[in-house]
Amino acid sequence: MAAERLFKDKSVVVGVTGGISAYKTVTLCSRLVKAGATVDVILTDAAEEFVRPLTFQALTHRPVITEMFSLLQETEIGHVSLGKKADLMIIAPATANSLAKLTHGLADNMLLTTALACRSPILVAPAMETGMWENSATCANMKTLEERGVNVVGPADGHLASGASGAGRMSEPDEIFNAARKILSRREPLNGFRIVVSAGGTREVIDPVRFIGNRSSGKMGYALAQAASDRGADVVLIHGPTALQNPYGVRDVGVESAEQMRSAVLKAVESADALIMTAAVADYRPVTAAKQKIKKRESGLSLDLVRTTDILAEVAENRTENIRLKAVFGFAAETESLLAHAREKLTRKQLDFIVANDVSASDSGFSVDTNRVTLIDSAGEANELPLMQKQEIAEIIIDRLAGFIKPQ
Ligand code: CTP
Repeated sequence: MAAERLFKDKSVVVGVTGGISAYKTVTLCSRLVKAGATVDVILTDAAEEFVRPLTFQALTHRPVITEMFSLLQETEIGHVSLGKKADLMIIAPATANSLAKLTHGLADNMLLTTALACRSPILVAPAMETGMWENSATCANMKTLEERGVNVVGPADGHLASGASGAGRMSEPDEIFNAARKILSRREPLNGFRIVVSAGGTREVIDPVRFIGNRSSGKMGYALAQAASDRGADVVLIHGPTALQNPYGVRDVGVESAEQMRSAVLKAVESADALIMTAAVADYRPVTAAKQKIKKRESGLSLDLVRTTDILAEVAENRTENIRLKAVFGFAAETESLLAHAREKLTRKQLDFIVANDVSASDSGFSVDTNRVTLIDSAGEANELPLMQKQEIAEIIIDRLAGFIKPQ
């Protein structure tokens, strides 16, 4: 899993302040530990009223820092050294009171002292009543914190501890984890590069209820978008209708038809360093889309189809006009003569790289989580990969892409 690559051997300090949502931070810590991070938890006195230190200790396998404990262990753990060695500090939940203190540089407890000494990025997950969140004092504090580079996730709208509903609910552990993931990715080699990824299948309208589609699930493209984002890239994901969740921090453009995908891709590549076309774009569309539902008749039905534009070929053909675009990667979905067809597409579409994708087997290609591909570069050199998770394949492809766009 790509998240492990980012979190492995990273030191994450999790500060917990006194809010009812502190119980959710337990799940967050568990996710961080599972991803390979070393997690040091600091609880304020108020936080201890909500969750006991032992819960965090059992999950993180490390001593939890509380006021009492810290005094005893100061020489070993050292609040200042913890802040210095951390790769990331997360404060979740961050109450209005703690956020106000953080804004003004107060250090009257272990958590705030650590935050003040912290040289790494800080991520806060505010949690409070709607009135407190909307209060101009909190708004001003948040503005100051953001101006200073503090990262903020949430709060979400929803059910609050008081029974009311509104803004102020702490973000879910998954979202906080993903925000942390995005922050860590900024140190990765593709930071500052923009990559456009297309994914999923397009739909060509026949009438108001029918379309011509294909079996692409979007999984390979989404895995590529996630892998590129984990390497720090600014990713634009242009996709046909899918059931997948958009990777956190990735710009997502939903389209339906091949023509819509073409417009979105052409626009996005204007400011991109690379394009990876994973999408299964329709090669044909009905000449006209019927305005009303086509009624069934006794006789058969023929559809008149016309060719759509080949987006990849169009981008590659016009690339001399775009000096920023350094890599154009394509996929070849094949059911026979895999390498021959893929090589032909690589040359005909003037690509830098093609991923030959065997879509004939049940464990490879459309809809499944695994894939079997051969990577072919513009010199014709082929690298056949065994059956692998799409996520793993995505990481290998992004590593190859980095070789094209990163100055050596
Ligand atoms: N592609 C594209 N625009 C199209 C059709 C395909 O950009 N109208 C891209 C796909 O995203 C993929 C590559 O071209 O990266 C190859 O797509 P594929 O479906 O394998 O091949 P086709 O070029 O459509 O040829 P064929 O259907 O004959 O295999």
